[in-house]
Amino acid sequence: HGVFTYDPGFMSTGSCESAITYIDGEAGVLLHRGYKIADLAENSDYLETCYLLLYGELPSATQKAEFVETVKNHTMVAESMQKFLDGFRNDAHPMAIMVGLVGALSAFYQDHMDINDPKHREIAAFRLISKMPTLAAMCYKYSKGQPTMYPRNDLSYAENFLHMMFATPCEEYKVNPVFAKAMDRIFILHADHEQNASTSTVRLAGSSGANPFACIAAGFVTLWGPAHGGANEAVLNMLEEIGDESNIDEFIAKAKDKNDPFRLMGFGHRVYKNFDPRAKVMRETCDQVLAELGQSDDPMLKIAKRLEQIALEDPYFVERKLYPNVDFYSGIIMKAIGIPTSMFTVIFAMSRTIGWISHWNEMISGNYKIGRPRQLYVGHTERDYPTDK
Ligand code: CMC
Repeated sequence: HGVFTYDPGFMSTGSCESAITYIDGEAGVLLHRGYKIADLAENSDYLETCYLLLYGELPSATQKAEFVETVKNHTMVAESMQKFLDGFRNDAHPMAIMVGLVGALSAFYQDHMDINDPKHREIAAFRLISKMPTLAAMCYKYSKGQPTMYPRNDLSYAENFLHMMFATPCEEYKVNPVFAKAMDRIFILHADHEQNASTSTVRLAGSSGANPFACIAAGFVTLWGPAHGGANEAVLNMLEEIGDESNIDEFIAKAKDKNDPFRLMGFGHRVYKNFDPRAKVMRETCDQVLAELGQSDDPMLKIAKRLEQIALEDPYFVERKLYPNVDFYSGIIMKAIGIPTSMFTVIFAMSRTIGWISHWNEMISGNYKIGRPRQLYVGHTERDYPTDK
């Protein structure tokens, strides 16, 4: 009983205090620990951004070197996880496999699991950041019927990921620096986004005292849906379905039709009612990658550019402030790099792992209560059980 506010979708409920990420959706501002996302994308790299999110400050050169070294010490995963992987069907969606692998991490790593010990929480964070690319690439290789490639600690985080994805035991993968840089940017731009659905889920799961690997698995599950992390995959599927510039008008009409559930994927955001600052950086990176490939007039990109233009001009989109979001461009970049669409959400989740673990750590280090929303009951009032049925 008692009074509470009914707030479906938590549109006006603040669930916690946090010092990690600041968003002003109306102004299109995104800051991590006070630093502008565009500055981080330009001057930082993913592991440095991870350090910033986790510890609150940018690292000194020594701190950065130590952090990178520790990440490298944890890149391998328990060999028995390969046997676990082998039990999945080859045609399973990589995200379905990832949900299983991440959830199972606590079965493979049972030491240092006292969530009240800051050192243990730090080890869990390192294990997650380091092993995520290895697990993601394992899923991809499994779907291709190729052997898993072990991590290479002489490479950067992004280079190593591309190596594990695309090298084979017979052939080394020569990592293109433009692709590695673009990949690193995708990781940075997806690293955190305050109390979105998946981060809130991680916090809610963590509020019961569940172990960090299990909490991150809950984040993976929530991110999977097309209204959240599945959007980058949905963008590519949509561009393929549109197929040709001549079909754009028909799809725009469908998107505006209130009797049609179709929405333009990659447009709109719950929080940004202005240009998503991440989308600006992604747009630039997208141009760089396509120029590198000599594919600047890729038909997919032409459709994408035209959709972008329509959304910025058409009153339907303008009035509702439906700007292109980060997933709109990241999907196109990853496709150009040769990453299959089914891996897009896995990569988003992999990048977001640092945000999730930073929020979990922030919550566990402070005062928190188990999350327990209320409900508006709309069912039957009390009634008698029929004795003559
Ligand atoms: N295409 C067409 N109409 C749209 C779209 C769209 N993509 N997005 C919102 N609208 C309309 C919606 O129909 C509604 O119109 P009306 O007021 O006439 O009923 C109005 O805009 C407001 O929509 P809403 O559903 O109340 O907005 P929301 O804040 O609940 O939804 C959203 C945000 C991201 C779920 C939604 O914009 C959407 O479904 N976009 C497409 C999927 C997508 O790109 N998702 C990625 C989100 S960014 C990545 C992340 O952070 O996870």
